[in-house]
Amino acid sequence: MISEQEADKRIRALAEQIASDTEPGNDLLVVGILNGAVFFLSDLVRRMPPELDVRIDFMAISSYGNSTKSSGVVRIIKDICCDIEGKDVLIVEDIIDTGLTLSYLMDAMKARRPARLRTCVLLDKHERRTEAVKVDYCGFQIPDAFVVGYGLDCGGKWRHLSAIHVVSQAEGADNAVDLL
Ligand code: IMP
Ligand code: MG
Repeated sequence: MISEQEADKRIRALAEQIASDTEPGNDLLVVGILNGAVFFLSDLVRRMPPELDVRIDFMAISSYGNSTKSSGVVRIIKDICCDIEGKDVLIVEDIIDTGLTLSYLMDAMKARRPARLRTCVLLDKHERRTEAVKVDYCGFQIPDAFVVGYGLDCGGKWRHLSAIHVVSQAEGADNAVDLL
């Protein structure tokens, strides 16, 4: 669906945009959501200008378990290490689908009173949204298809692929998946 080169080009543009929207002299705390956002976060922050004071941290949230359908259950499995009160925080997520994960996370983060809270997603399945979530930066709007690669997985598989691919799935059979 999206090649390594296309993703790279878009991520450079996102990094530039985020940097230009960030108050000079402020620390920017970039919080990646494990495991899906690891490659995206690492490429994104390395495209940010050296004069920007960038810090990174990670959170893990349960969402889909092993299937391609949402369980509707969201909980924090691993929290960030630092206090974010008064900080400029950017949440980096691989994909927004229903919005359940990000909306839960945003509420949890807002309660910690950061000075500023922004969200950045690589992929947005806009038509699937059920929760209203403010997405400040988006790499690509994609149609309703299950995608893998560049950090995104299907049952733990295919995260390591450099490009983003669509998975084909036989009706009702979670194990019968393959790359399109
Ligand atoms: P949401 O809570 O429905 O917005 O789903 C967001 C989470 O579901 C993401 O963090 C992903 O882990 C997972 N997810 C949603 N769609 C896909 C997909 O197409 N491929 C891989 N993971 C997905
Ligand atoms: Mg995820």
